Amino acid sequence: MLFADAAARIEASARELWPGRTVRLGARIPSVTCYVQNIDVDGRGLVAKVSYLGVSIVSLLRGARGDWPAVRAAQADYVTAPGALVGREAAQLRLMEKVPGLAVCPVAGARNGVLFTGRVLGPTLTDLLIAAPEHSAELLGRVTRSLQPLRFPALPRGAAVPQTPERGIRAVFVRKMRGAAGQLYLRRLGEERIRDGQEREQVRLLLVASVERLMRHRALSQPRCPALIHGDLKPEHLLFPEGADGAPVFLDPGLQYGGECADIAKLLSRTLLHLLATPYPPEAAERALAGIDVFVRAQARTPARAAGAQDLWLRRLVIMWLMDTVNITSSYLSAPAALPLPAPAPDLVGRALALAALVDRGSALLDADRTPMPRLWPRFLDAVRVLVRGETGAAR
Ligand SMILES: Nc1ncnc2c1ncn2[C@@H]1O[C@H](COP(=O)(O)OP(=O)(O)O)[C@@H](O)[C@H]1O
Ligand SMILES: [Mg+2]
Repeated sequence: MLFADAAARIEASARELWPGRTVRLGARIPSVTCYVQNIDVDGRGLVAKVSYLGVSIVSLLRGARGDWPAVRAAQADYVTAPGALVGREAAQLRLMEKVPGLAVCPVAGARNGVLFTGRVLGPTLTDLLIAAPEHSAELLGRVTRSLQPLRFPALPRGAAVPQTPERGIRAVFVRKMRGAAGQLYLRRLGEERIRDGQEREQVRLLLVASVERLMRHRALSQPRCPALIHGDLKPEHLLFPEGADGAPVFLDPGLQYGGECADIAKLLSRTLLHLLATPYPPEAAERALAGIDVFVRAQARTPARAAGAQDLWLRRLVIMWLMDTVNITSSYLSAPAALPLPAPAPDLVGRALALAALVDRGSALLDADRTPMPRLWPRFLDAVRVLVRGETGAAR
């Protein structure tokens, strides 16, 4: 019902925005957050997106906002409310478009809670990493440099920046996992996605232990000097229309004031998940990981961080990396079977146990207090390497 309603909203909004033009709905794009679908208007390729109540589709289908008539009724008010999610996204994209040196997907229009962006063609960051893993460090470095103009000078002073705090790693983690509701959520994970009862139980136990540790360390995930960040930096939100040597075009921002570390943590957490889900020769995966190591060490050192600050930065990175992996893995595992999952999820749910084991090992490392993080970082990377060796390509 929700899917048909969303498609009808998209079509109706397109006809209102572009009367008399030929409107043709195309393939749906799987997402756990919004309803997203390709659409052509007079032959121009666009992507349309609808958010219901600013809540993820997974939560909606699980009944977080009541039954479908209740959601539909609430949506009527939501689309005209000033803080609606896609309205904020449109404003962010329009703002980012004006930042010299930053490329984003163009806003084609926004109407009745539907956002239309111009379809950007080109390989994603994952595609490029897979094609040339030896360039991983350089590519990742280029991505973070491309976001630099967002940080200080380019935005007009005092420009009102609509924010998307609900995409923050820490905010999502605490919201989902805290208290009795968090316990219940964790207890029900995998009900519709992991058939083997024993495996499901093991995944839950590992995640519960990891969540408990990460909660204890969560204070460290607060940035010291918040700055504007992309806020939802994932490989699938980075397209390279000019190929491997060109600049990235950013999609789906979730602008917020946070630490640059948060962008990097999500980028690496999601990159690893994509690498795991891609048939990838183990040597190539190892090369990509070596590139991630070089990239992270370089980031930890900038701008000329003192040893103590490097330690803190690495610790914060690992905490947020693991929090994000828990956030997204739990979303996939709690998604109703009826919801088509986007890449890399379909290939990952079968390997939830290995992923949960990584989060468990990584979070246990954080508990080894007093060991300086530059010594713990290689151990975390070893845990990642073990996972990659066991899970990619020929070894699978
Ligand atoms: N303008 C665009 N050009 C190309 N691909 C797009 C565009 N907008 C969205 N997509 C694709 O659709 C996916 C989901 O859209 P997105 O805006 O990220 O929605 P959500 O908020 O649900 O994550 C993206 O990850 C990307 O693969
Ligand atoms: Mg997205």
